Amino acid sequence: MLSLVVLISGGGSNLRALLDASQDAEFPARVVAVGADRDADGFAHAEEYGIPTFSVAMSNFADRDAWAAELLAQVRAWNADLVVLSGFMKLLPPDFVAALSPNLINTHPAYLPEFPGAHGVRDALAAGVTETGASVIVVDNGVDSGPIIAQERIPVEPGDTEASLHERIKPVERRLLIQAILDIANSAIDLKELT
Ligand code: GRF
Repeated sequence: MLSLVVLISGGGSNLRALLDASQDAEFPARVVAVGADRDADGFAHAEEYGIPTFSVAMSNFADRDAWAAELLAQVRAWNADLVVLSGFMKLLPPDFVAALSPNLINTHPAYLPEFPGAHGVRDALAAGVTETGASVIVVDNGVDSGPIIAQERIPVEPGDTEASLHERIKPVERRLLIQAILDIANSAIDLKELT
């Protein structure tokens, strides 16, 4: 049974999908804690499932490194097999990534390496592309630049807004994330081989 710590910043719809999936006794992973860089709305999903939450706000720390050191300490306290960033909107410094790599993965609402960064959906729309995508990657020291675990193309429809396109992307992200966790749990994917 793969134990997971999930880090979010927002509504946590991808987290919700993981929590729902782990209700199936056959699903080989369990979320043991949910963390965030704020009092994230998505904590409501964890609370509904009785899963502990923790938040480490950057504003409480002198700088990014001090904040990340505390976040790492709180993540490590759960001794999870895998840390999943899903809608976590802060860049993590190299020490944090090095401490967890390669057992640190991220979901991104674009077909990486296209449109990395915090506005992948908005950037795809602005670029006028007819298709974008969703990706699950291993986190490295770059911005959404790590080895790709899974990705899938998603059409951009005429008249799409950032919200409508993002809502079309998220279900694909959720499906790719759940499949990636299944593959990691069943050793179909070896993260050490990818990095
Ligand atoms: C997801 O598309 C994630 O990839 C991106 O932000 C979104 C978070 O959505 N970084 P949610 O919080 O899981 O609903």
